[in-house]
Amino acid sequence: MAADGQAFELAKAAMSKAYVPYSQFKVGVAIETSSGRYYSGCNVENASYPEGTCAEAGAIAAMVLDGESQIKNIYVMGNGAELVTPCGGCRQRIREFASEQTRIHVCSSSQVRRTFTMEELLPCSFGPENLAK
Ligand code: THU
Repeated sequence: MAADGQAFELAKAAMSKAYVPYSQFKVGVAIETSSGRYYSGCNVENASYPEGTCAEAGAIAAMVLDGESQIKNIYVMGNGAELVTPCGGCRQRIREFASEQTRIHVCSSSQVRRTFTMEELLPCSFGPENLAK
């Protein structure tokens, strides 16, 4: 996706809304589902630090609320020299709705910096198939 694509712009808008009074570290996420719908989320911190939520969690909740469950592309956007790759917990959250076709795009506010598969970010993962009867 070009840096001016719809998902990229949604991630950027979400990032600008992040509630980060403690870390000052804004993260925005946008999801494109396999049916072509878009959802976004930002991180929301809390005075009780562990209760803060990652941007991925917000975007996934919006997706599920709308009845969608197949992530085609997910854009994770943050500032800084290091790549803002999804945290460990969010890798598992994405995994729940991912397939071999899913791509995780790690972005700065001006470009996609790197693109990963789910297997690259969370190899040999545990998922819904493990619980299939
Ligand atoms: N953060 C996310 O929103 N997503 C990630 O995958 C990495 C971390 C947030 C959580 C916290 O509000 C801030 O970034 C600093 O850790």
